[in-house]
Amino acid sequence: MTQDEMKKAAGWAALEFVTPGSIVGVGTGSTVNHFIDALGSIKDQIRGAVSSSEASTERLKALGIPVFDLNDISELNVYVDGADEIDGSMAMIKGGGAALTREKIVAAVADQFVCIVDGTKTVDVLGKFPLPVEVIPMAREYVARELSKLGGQPVYREGVITDNGNHILDVHGLAITEPNVLETRINAIVGVVTNGLFAERGADVLLIGTPDGVVRKGG
Ligand code: 5RP
Repeated sequence: MTQDEMKKAAGWAALEFVTPGSIVGVGTGSTVNHFIDALGSIKDQIRGAVSSSEASTERLKALGIPVFDLNDISELNVYVDGADEIDGSMAMIKGGGAALTREKIVAAVADQFVCIVDGTKTVDVLGKFPLPVEVIPMAREYVARELSKLGGQPVYREGVITDNGNHILDVHGLAITEPNVLETRINAIVGVVTNGLFAERGADVLLIGTPDGVVRKGG
């Protein structure tokens, strides 16, 4: 089974968490693209979606799924998204696709976060995947120096501008044993928009695509 087939299995399994007649929170990435395709197969049974990126919005609209502005939505019962890494406490590193800020906002509104991954994404300790940090462009080098003081090696993701018009620093070399603490600490650096640690608001349900089927944790 290929990695993409495992992603597809997890993406389609998330349909179980979609309530008929609801608006669904939709993340970003190659695993979520399978979930969007799955949503397309039941589009007549949902009101629509709230999207975490321009890329997901485009894919949703191409399938004829209405996309709502988050400001017009007062509640969202489920948010479905992928992750770059997820640990045993359901804390995640996200932002490999540079959509971390909008993802964190939509996740904050949702009652339930369903994380969909292939079997390569589960880890004991977060940090092998470089931690993305979205920064205001003029603060980039200042924030990089502050991140170095925390023990990481920040690398500017050149050529990438986020949907919010900002830059991304990828922080290498962190072994993140206290993700909640680091999430708060990095977000307190002036010029940081947000970082890719999703620990304060981790996943509630994890669906892992494996060669033996989809393994479920939580929920
Ligand atoms: C995008 C993300 C994605 O969820 C994460 O990068 C996983 O992507 P993929 O499903 O393509 O492996 O956080 O900002």
